[in-house]
Amino acid sequence: MKGGKSMGKFTVLNHPLIQHKLTIIRDKATGTKVFREVANEIAELMVYEITRDLPLVDVEIETPMGKTVQKQLSGKKLAVVPILRAGLGMVDGVLQLIPAAKVGHIGMYRDEQTLEPHEYFVKMPPDIDQRDLFIVDPMLATGGSANMAIDALKKRGAKNMRLVVLVAAPEGVKAVQEAHPDVDIYAASLDEKLTDNGYIFPGLGDAGDRLFGTK
Ligand code: PRP
Ligand code: URA
Repeated sequence: MKGGKSMGKFTVLNHPLIQHKLTIIRDKATGTKVFREVANEIAELMVYEITRDLPLVDVEIETPMGKTVQKQLSGKKLAVVPILRAGLGMVDGVLQLIPAAKVGHIGMYRDEQTLEPHEYFVKMPPDIDQRDLFIVDPMLATGGSANMAIDALKKRGAKNMRLVVLVAAPEGVKAVQEAHPDVDIYAASLDEKLTDNGYIFPGLGDAGDRLFGTK
């Protein structure tokens, strides 16, 4: 690439359990209760895969059999940052595996006509500059919301971020990679395209409405 600037990595986490569960939430016959449960289960499976590189340290412990040196997490500071509303549907899944993570919230909505994102709320842990962040949102469509969220986080000092989405459109992946080449993106699926009204196809419809039973 020109100037040697490297792109953020884009990874599809297509574990069979993730693919199976994604099919469940894509199905329009799936109601709010199951949608909520399964979205969190997918988030949990994704985080299990994404955290393979968490640093470990040696610790001396004593088992009933005697002293031994074993591994434990080094205590890296983490935070999960849901993009409201729909990102809330992934938080419990992440906290299931990383219960001590702090949670920052960023509120964004997409204008249904222009598809432009609008920020309405930001509340982050004070030491956001020292934390590795998992930004979570089920849908990466045009990429406008994710890009604005990442801008807002960088403005507040965040340095290390990963974007974790359930379903990504090629357009959204490209937009985030171009605007934020330092942010790696993880998706459960790379879907075909965006429709004329900015929805992901085949997608799963409006994630916020399906999670919260609105519309
Ligand atoms: C959805 C989704 C993303 C955004 C993706 O949120 O949760 O945040 O759209 O679209 P984009 O990539 O084109 O920006 P929405 O604006 O519907 O708000 P909600 O989560 O409150 O339902
Ligand atoms: N937001 C959603 O909730 N679904 C889409 O398909 C695109 C944006």
